[in-house]
Amino acid sequence: MDKPKIYVIHENDAWVAPLRDAFAALNLPYEEWFLSEGTLDLAEEPPRGVFYNRMSASSHTRGHRYAAELTGGVLSWLERHGRRVVNNGRALQLEVSKVAQYSALAGYGIRTPRTIAAVGRESIVAAARKMSVPFITKHNRAGKGLGVKLFQSVDALEEHVVSAAFEDSVDGITLIQEYIRAPEPFITRVEFVGGKYLYAVRVDTTLGFELCPADVCQVGDAFCPAGEWESAAAAPRFRIVRGFAHPIIERYRHFLAANGIGIAGIEFIADARGEIYTYDVNTNTNYNAAAEAEAGLYGIRAIAAYLGGELSKLEHTGVRARAA
Ligand SMILES: Nc1ncnc2c1ncn2[C@@H]1O[C@H](COP(=O)(O)OP(=O)(O)O)[C@@H](O)[C@H]1O
Ligand SMILES: [Mg+2]
Repeated sequence: MDKPKIYVIHENDAWVAPLRDAFAALNLPYEEWFLSEGTLDLAEEPPRGVFYNRMSASSHTRGHRYAAELTGGVLSWLERHGRRVVNNGRALQLEVSKVAQYSALAGYGIRTPRTIAAVGRESIVAAARKMSVPFITKHNRAGKGLGVKLFQSVDALEEHVVSAAFEDSVDGITLIQEYIRAPEPFITRVEFVGGKYLYAVRVDTTLGFELCPADVCQVGDAFCPAGEWESAAAAPRFRIVRGFAHPIIERYRHFLAANGIGIAGIEFIADARGEIYTYDVNTNTNYNAAAEAEAGLYGIRAIAAYLGGELSKLEHTGVRARAA
């Protein structure tokens, strides 16, 4: 039988490149499963190893319309064979649905912004009538700020949904959500690796709603008007917060453990009273190189080390089983 390896399930080479270097540095055996299209033969047995699922909710925007669906099938097959999966099928369900995320978060005492899910243009407008202004819309399955728009009135939304500019979520579900006004323009993203808190990073939101921390995403950012960019360039967009200690970390930890999520970045906004609203769970998380270098903390290295540890646990269990 093949020696067990780490398997990385994904659909975006650019985001996996730093992970390859981290695996190489630790001399870890790995293989990539690029799941955009392909076959899954249920009669086959999966290889032995640790499977790290980093399928992204925004995969359809890279031409991989059914990557998440295919991954869902693959994960259920792996789990049925008892394979160790980091970010399992349940994690994927949450990745591709903010409604599912918010419902799950509520079970752990984690506050989310008031949200109404709506299918169909009339329902979207009807939902907005129940919301106070201002409110935002967003796609239920998104991942890079898809469909995030701020509205000051129901009339403005009504105009928008019948216009050519309206874009439906790939799953047909639009969320109408309470707008949380931050006293200063930043959100906080809390990173976890191996279920453990790694760090919190502040992300400047002056430039807009598309906030992927990966370097590749900052080139040609749709929300990057050159004029504004110059003033923002003075301060880095991402900054790791030193000494972030908040009771929310413990609640996040429980939520992640109960939902098959080992690696994730969870985003929140604090309002003027300091009330924390959690609005996005990213089971496919990327790290900002400049912010990490400044703080001397490295997410990708932590992931590689964690997966390496899981792999050696597996090898030891194998040895014990053979000995028995
Ligand atoms: N309820 C909200 N109030 C204010 N700003 C929000 C709210 N929800 C999202 N945003 C802003 O929009 C960005 C993208 O929204 P998010 O829910 O994270 O979608 P995605 O999954 O596409 O990243 C957030 O990082 C934040 O800056
Ligand atoms: Mg987000």
